[in-house]
Amino acid sequence: MKICVLPGDGIGPEIMEQALRVLEALRGDGFNFEVETALIGGSAVDATGTPYPEATSKAAKAADAILLGAVGGPKWDTLPREQRPERGLLAIRKELNLFANLRPAILYPELANASTLKPEVVAGLDILIVRELTGDIYFGQPRGVREENGERVGFNTMVYSESEIRRIGKVAFEAARKRGKKLCSVDKMNVLEATQLWRDVMIEISADYPDVELSHMLVDNAAMQLVRAPKQFDVMVTGNMFGDILSDEASMLTGSIGMLPSASLDANNKGLYEPSHGSAPDIAGKGLANPLATILSAAMMLRYTFNLEAQALRIENAVKKVLAAGYRTGDIYEAGTRQVGTREMGDAVIAAL
Ligand code: NAD
Ligand code: IPM
Ligand code: MN
Repeated sequence: MKICVLPGDGIGPEIMEQALRVLEALRGDGFNFEVETALIGGSAVDATGTPYPEATSKAAKAADAILLGAVGGPKWDTLPREQRPERGLLAIRKELNLFANLRPAILYPELANASTLKPEVVAGLDILIVRELTGDIYFGQPRGVREENGERVGFNTMVYSESEIRRIGKVAFEAARKRGKKLCSVDKMNVLEATQLWRDVMIEISADYPDVELSHMLVDNAAMQLVRAPKQFDVMVTGNMFGDILSDEASMLTGSIGMLPSASLDANNKGLYEPSHGSAPDIAGKGLANPLATILSAAMMLRYTFNLEAQALRIENAVKKVLAAGYRTGDIYEAGTRQVGTREMGDAVIAAL
């Protein structure tokens, strides 16, 4: 099994090191792998002048799965848009057709008090956000900044084709079928035509899934409902932009964004696996970052790309054990628990394996 490893920027290399140590600890348990490491994001810009070098593209295409840390940071924020680290991430998602982004927000019972919401609101939370990842206003044309009537005008285009909506809809219905059989599609059809089409196509697909209960919600209400009563949701499906925002919101229900893994899949379950959070420049290089979102992303890789359910569960159970034993990085720390750094958290997960 070939894994392309892209540590990236900021806390990326620190959290990736722990995820790789966890995978190394599983080696032999029905699981053998080769790693090819490549550059992406700001570190790629520094070394090669571009955030997604040709060599990285080649390595990613040759691999069965890609494990990514995070990209970006203040150092590169003033570069022209094509050279920004985030462009590297968008380019790899688009090039490999990774249109289905799965972001599970699960609250581990031990972290009920780490959430900023009341424990009873989040206890038992288990939501899956299915975010479309290669369309929408992120990629729509035309885009840019132009001069008009003596001032600058910035513009982007929200666009979705029927086939793009249909393929992400199917992923979401299939996921709902395997879980609580409830799917909530989130749109803004009261204002935006592209999302009226989104709703229409979701309704059409639902004919093939009579066992799944489809509901619809406007995105502003969905943002409110996620903090009011998040347990009403099972699977949520939405576009690229709304999914970006709602998944960060959902992460806080689980205690910290440092807990939220993600899988970005193509039509054949080749996937890129990464934590949902960014490069956390404020804590980078200090050994403080929570590596669990990345470790849990590696578990998702074993499950979705390599079909190694038992090994994925071994990692997830090890994480549960470590939390139950009171290990906490700063982002999930509370009085009475044991504060550890990035590497110690990795050590604890490996010991629990
Ligand atoms: P961020 O997710 O990097 O950080 C937001 C806050 O959460 C910070 O206070 C940070 O310290 C904290 N945090 C994030 N991950 C953590 C972890 N594992 N452990 C503990 N605390 C954690 O978001 P931001 O500050 O808006 O963005 C910083 C940079 O990251 C930007 O350049 C942005 O474009 C980039 N970014 C990249 C990705 C990605 O690579 N997938 C995702 C989001 C943001
Ligand atoms: C994410 C990030 C990216 C996104 C950025 C860094 C391009 O926020 O993976 O959620 O907006 O998709
Ligand atoms: Mn995001």
